[in-house]
Amino acid sequence: MKMLKSCLTGLALSVAASVAPAAEVEVLHYLTSSGEAAAIDVLKKYLKGAGHNWKDFAVAGGGGESAMTVLKSRAISGNPPAAAQIKGLDIQEWGELGFLTDMDAIARAGNWDELLPPVVSKVMKYDGKYVAVPVNVHRVNWIWANPEVFRKAGVGIPTTWQQFLEVAPKIKAAGFVPLAHGGQAWQDATLFEAVALGLGGAEFYNKAFVEHDDATLQSEQMVKVFETFKQLGDYIDPNASGRDWNIATSMVINGEAAMQVMGDWAKGEFTAAGQQPGVDYVCLPAPNTSGTFTFNIDSFAMFELNDEQRAKAQQHLARLVMEPSFQKTFNLNKGSIPARLGMDRAPFDSCAHASMDAFVASASSGTLVPSFAHGLATTSQVQGAIFDVVTNFFNSDMSAQDAVAKLARSVKAAQL
Ligand code: BGC
Repeated sequence: MKMLKSCLTGLALSVAASVAPAAEVEVLHYLTSSGEAAAIDVLKKYLKGAGHNWKDFAVAGGGGESAMTVLKSRAISGNPPAAAQIKGLDIQEWGELGFLTDMDAIARAGNWDELLPPVVSKVMKYDGKYVAVPVNVHRVNWIWANPEVFRKAGVGIPTTWQQFLEVAPKIKAAGFVPLAHGGQAWQDATLFEAVALGLGGAEFYNKAFVEHDDATLQSEQMVKVFETFKQLGDYIDPNASGRDWNIATSMVINGEAAMQVMGDWAKGEFTAAGQQPGVDYVCLPAPNTSGTFTFNIDSFAMFELNDEQRAKAQQHLARLVMEPSFQKTFNLNKGSIPARLGMDRAPFDSCAHASMDAFVASASSGTLVPSFAHGLATTSQVQGAIFDVVTNFFNSDMSAQDAVAKLARSVKAAQL
């Protein structure tokens, strides 16, 4: 009798398994550095824990440019993944093309409108409906500094670009690389947008990079931004060309370089290396940008699937991403702060607390600005046009006046 019972239980289990087979969820992402991989592992574990199969579609390359190219060819051939790490205005472009699936029922059931700050939920919707789910909010305007290097060079960590230009030659003279950087267009743009926000302020930044106001793009202030940006090149080592951002971060971690201007995905690298904020490294707002917040929101956009089981598993993924425990663990590894409101702050470190405070304060003072270097401010066409001008300028002897004229022309052309 006992044996029969256990046979029947075994049969029942295998029947249950066969009527509800684990479905495959393919996720395209570009989270391949140490901190990023630790974060994406959290998502893998959640999905596997829910009984589904994770199909990894990782395309390395900071900023995600290569991932977007690969995604386009997969989508065009009619075989998109279930979810892809797409953000900002790119979500609108994919929505417009009809590739994304409506997650509104899941969002309504989960109260996403109440759980997300409006600046986040707006980005997740196409045509008023949720088509993407947010994993985090990254602050981009940070400086990551090695305090030991500053101590050895006998200078303080700069809080203004003026101070940066005063201390950098001393750091160089002491035998360190003042600014860890990788010569890639998106990294140049990340540095450039920090200089623009620092020197011009939030209103100038928005006029130039969100509204594309011609007079602002061609202004004297913009000339100054380009001039200061160019000066930073003197404090980057000669091997920076093509270097990945996380290799630049490792130069700060191992004491070869004094600082890096980078979004807080860099913090994920310090965390993965076992370093503590305020002890082994210091986070400060990028020069002249305290009180402002350049935001970059990571999200997974959901593609229309024609397999019912896979579509169900995809919806499951969307629900899991919004779970508080997922948002906590993912962001502790990624360096960012949770996208959803009402989370317990206690597990997070001092840099995350500073980011949470600055996010709220800047939203109410009007100094919360979208990152153009990370696709939150402009279409990919305008973004590409700005990247070209910034990178060509940084790597040539183009004058700041010529760069400004070129910037205004290219931004206009990219909007045609
Ligand atoms: C993404 C981050 C990523 C970084 C480096 C940014 O654009 O939003 O999630 O860590 O690029 O690849």
